[in-house]
Amino acid sequence: MRTAAAILAAIIVVGAVGAARGFSGGPPNARTGAPGEGTCADCHGNLNVGDGRITVAAPSTFAPGDTISLFVKVSQPGQMRWGFELTVLDDADGPVGDLIIVEPTRTQLSVDVGTGRQYAKHTSVGTDLGTPDESPGWTIDWASPDAPLGAVTFYIAGSAANGNGFSTGDFIYTNVLMYGDDQTSADELTDFETTWGRVKALFR
Ligand code: HEC
Repeated sequence: MRTAAAILAAIIVVGAVGAARGFSGGPPNARTGAPGEGTCADCHGNLNVGDGRITVAAPSTFAPGDTISLFVKVSQPGQMRWGFELTVLDDADGPVGDLIIVEPTRTQLSVDVGTGRQYAKHTSVGTDLGTPDESPGWTIDWASPDAPLGAVTFYIAGSAANGNGFSTGDFIYTNVLMYGDDQTSADELTDFETTWGRVKALFR
């Protein structure tokens, strides 16, 4: 019996390590709040209810063929660990352009085989465990296709976590950065805008 208990305990420990690699080391795809996606709150809860926020800073315009730099940041007083996921979609909600990893220890890229959507997200190092109140932020590049584009929208979700190594006590925020048809205007639809928020904001 003791042996069985020991084996069971070993399995539980291995399972926990696997989970740690799988989640804080990089969230699953399709959790940015983009059309057809969930958010980190599917597991972490607390969607857009705290006093923090997620922002994405980018140039106010770009031309087809340009590569632009994005700077993503999450903040919330008292929190200690950070994470994010970002994808870029065209008018038809399909993937557009290419996300480029420029901080390979802190960020990573994964491509969803089903949808072709690209996801930039944190690595374990990139969660900056122990950094209080505000993430140092992550830089990611995005290369626009050469051809003229319709509207381009960046969907982003992130966590202001407490660093307890579990999915509890964390706060999730979403945001949307949208460039109009000619990419001459960028509109950061403020905090707490989910896909529905975006639709409402567009028609306000
Ligand atoms: C399928 C469930 C699931 C989804 C979706 C998910 N997570 Fe997690 N996450 C977990 C679990 C379970 C843990 C705890 C184990 C671990 O640390 O890996 C965790 C831990 C974390 C941690 C460390 C928390 C702490 O307090 O130490 C961060 C940061 C994090 N996730 C970020 C994210 C972000 C950002 C997203 C969305 C883009 C996300 N997660 C989506 C399940 C999930």
